[in-house]
Amino acid sequence: MPSGQKTYYIQTFGCQMNEHDSEKLAGMLEEKGYLPSEERENADVIVVNTCSVRENADNRFFGQLGVIKKIKERHPDHIIAVCGCMMQQEHITDTIRKKYAWVDIIFGTMNLEEFPRLLDECLTEKKKLMSVYHRQEKVIEGLPMHRKYRYKSFVDIMNGCNNFCTYCIVPYTRGRERSRSPESIVEEIRLLAADGVKEVTLLGQNVNSYGHGADFDCDFAGLIRRIDEVEGIERIRFMTSHPKDLSDRLIEAFRDCRKLCRHIHLPVQSGSTRILSRMNRRYTKEGYLSLVEKIRSAVPEIAVTTDIIVGFPGETEEDFEETMDLVRRVRFDSAFTFLYSIRTGTPAAKYEDQIPEPEKHRRFEHLVETLNGITAEKNARYAGRTERVLVDGPSREDSNTYSGRTDTFKLVNFRSPKDLTGEMADVKITEAKTFSLFGEAVLSR
Ligand code: 5AD
Ligand code: SF4
Repeated sequence: MPSGQKTYYIQTFGCQMNEHDSEKLAGMLEEKGYLPSEERENADVIVVNTCSVRENADNRFFGQLGVIKKIKERHPDHIIAVCGCMMQQEHITDTIRKKYAWVDIIFGTMNLEEFPRLLDECLTEKKKLMSVYHRQEKVIEGLPMHRKYRYKSFVDIMNGCNNFCTYCIVPYTRGRERSRSPESIVEEIRLLAADGVKEVTLLGQNVNSYGHGADFDCDFAGLIRRIDEVEGIERIRFMTSHPKDLSDRLIEAFRDCRKLCRHIHLPVQSGSTRILSRMNRRYTKEGYLSLVEKIRSAVPEIAVTTDIIVGFPGETEEDFEETMDLVRRVRFDSAFTFLYSIRTGTPAAKYEDQIPEPEKHRRFEHLVETLNGITAEKNARYAGRTERVLVDGPSREDSNTYSGRTDTFKLVNFRSPKDLTGEMADVKITEAKTFSLFGEAVLSR
């Protein structure tokens, strides 16, 4: 690194939305002449992009700040900025300002674009700054972006959530739903394709309600059809779908759009209709089961993945058995499992019938064991097949081994004499493991 070169380091917690926000923060810093630093210790600007969804998020974040404090003591002129979902919660920003007053900049999820201005002011006026919006009517467009991958990219299509599931903090930290216009999304994807991007993942807390209440006439299925026509794009993925809003039009789009990957992440959260109602999910166990059946009969081989919360307040052994029953019936390709944990400010935090931790853990382990067995069986069916993967790059362990994903989002590690990073490659699957597949590249001569 040439002397005098300013550098940055961004630490990101949480979901793809946060990862994508960090790509924009990196883009804004690079536009100002900063370069990424390998080490946090020496970076002129350290940004911590926080998440409120993960377990023990508060403790972990303040633990990190404790470590960063030491860096600030060694380098008082380095700028420390904290942002992301946690900053949308007043008890957090109050604590930072009282107990961690050495933090230079605090900003939220709804005003990312202000970061360069806050940084300038902090550097020139040498003062601490905080700017957190609690309302945002529009999606900020056109921020620069430092993409992690050359050939695949996230694309925001909407921000925020109106669902208010009773356990979830997101509607409070990301605000109300707002959708970008289809024109601006398609234009961004055209530019990405021109820049070599082959796969886009459309991001939103609830992509199925894309366009609701907007001043344009395009729903999510319509948007996918438009993206399907963009030349150069070979794969379209999206995250996340709420079962209550999944339309027949989307299922038809799966049938018609060649580029739409056969994978749907459809969080169920619980298999008990009673718990689903307490969660304010607005569907029943039977409704979910028939939705999955409908999707599978329209799109054979589609991979279905999910999120499940164990130990929601009031969850009885019978409720948990309903979840186990749903899991066995749906046979998810894979699932993220969460122990319910209290998020201050959400309705469920005040429910009195919280489940004791040891009981939550017992149920969690039983569920994970069953889920893993199903995942392994699902993967076993891939052995012997030849699958097309988009190659992510060398896998860490071995230089002749690369990794990529099938369109059904299965992770494939494979041997290849040639570096195929960023390309679509055919891989003969020789072995199926619980969480990945293994194979050999089939190279055309
Ligand atoms: N406790 C446990 N899991 C939660 N999730 C969201 N809020 C909580 C909570 N309070 C899980 C949900 C969601 C995923 C992103 O995080 O399963 O789908
Ligand atoms: Fe949270 Fe529910 Fe919105 Fe998902 S749909 S972000 S779980 S409130």
